[in-house]
Amino acid sequence: MVEEQDYEQVLMEYSQNVLEHFLNPRNVGRIEAPDAAAKVGDPGCGDYIELFLRMEGNKIAEIKYLVFGCAGAISTSSALTELAKGKSVAEALEITDDDVIDYLGGIPERKKHCSLLGVKALHSAIKAYQQKMKFVQKTS
Ligand code: FES
Repeated sequence: MVEEQDYEQVLMEYSQNVLEHFLNPRNVGRIEAPDAAAKVGDPGCGDYIELFLRMEGNKIAEIKYLVFGCAGAISTSSALTELAKGKSVAEALEITDDDVIDYLGGIPERKKHCSLLGVKALHSAIKAYQQKMKFVQKTS
């Protein structure tokens, strides 16, 4: 059983920004008929994300996600969507897990891998979108 003192100790490891995104995650949900989507899981810990994009031309007009995971996965996925919204395809592909961690003002070392979940899903969704656009151009 977790004692109250242990709980406070755990909370103190996280920056205010991480806790804020954990408690009030942005852009949570699903986009019906998205332009692209991706599912990524981390077999090491069992965390899982589904990410959806609505595009306007070359830009991310809307980004949403559903995540099953730890505080690190929830807060970094939330931060990632804030970073990616409005970005072009090329700009979004350049977003790294370090960008997400910097945006949040740091994350405990043992939680750094959590930030990869959303970044991998974003890159995977964008690549799926690029493939779809290539196919559309070829067939039109
Ligand atoms: Fe697995 Fe955080 S512990 S993503």
